[in-house]
Amino acid sequence: MTRRRASDDGQRGLAPSRRGFLTGTAAAAGGLTAQFAAGEAAAQEAPRAAPGDLVEVTFTLNGAEVTRAVDPRRTALDLLREGEGLTGTKVGCRHGQCGACTLHVDGRPVLSCLTLAAQLEGAEVTTIEGLADAAAAEGIATADGLHPVQRAFIERDGFQCGYCTPGQIMSAAAVIAEGHASSEAEVREYMSGNLCRCAAYPQIVAAVMDATAEIGTPQDGGGARADYHLGLVEQVEDEA
Ligand code: FES
Ligand code: FES
Repeated sequence: MTRRRASDDGQRGLAPSRRGFLTGTAAAAGGLTAQFAAGEAAAQEAPRAAPGDLVEVTFTLNGAEVTRAVDPRRTALDLLREGEGLTGTKVGCRHGQCGACTLHVDGRPVLSCLTLAAQLEGAEVTTIEGLADAAAAEGIATADGLHPVQRAFIERDGFQCGYCTPGQIMSAAAVIAEGHASSEAEVREYMSGNLCRCAAYPQIVAAVMDATAEIGTPQDGGGARADYHLGLVEQVEDEA
């Protein structure tokens, strides 16, 4: 197959002239200005939240529906830790750089320090406190009622101080469910956003590989919710 250059006949009509480009740009800018002005006018008419106003948010938290009135500026991390007393989700950097605050929102790993509580509206939220119950609901809980990742972390000594551990476990559970734990290299790549100041990485990776072997990957039909997991994989690939 011969590659065609942009200057070949068929492409010529698509190449904009300088005059055409400037005319088009000016027209687009005019349209955008009009849209912007209309948007500003609508925004001025819309009632604004006064400082101190609260917004109501309803979501499922570890299997139970909750409704809370929250400050629109409050993060999910603060709501869960300070409002709900779920202190298993840790505060590290508050800047999306350490992964200590990872939880699951609709089955996907999310940094709760960068998520507003108001964004949880209608979502299914799982914290480390609810992970074992979620595993039981999926039919993958261990004999002692833990998520296989939790059990593997214990058996592999996947922690020292333990501060990063809840975030590591939540990320690992999602990485396995999304089908990104086929090798140690892949686990290291997909969990690179979870930092461990104690450098327990070799044990953490070993634990994730053990848990993957226990649960199975979505690709090989592993896990009681393989269809659900495969759906997640397709969703992630579609969005990529
Ligand atoms: S506390 Fe959220 S990424 Fe560090
Ligand atoms: S075990 Fe200490 S920060 Fe990871």
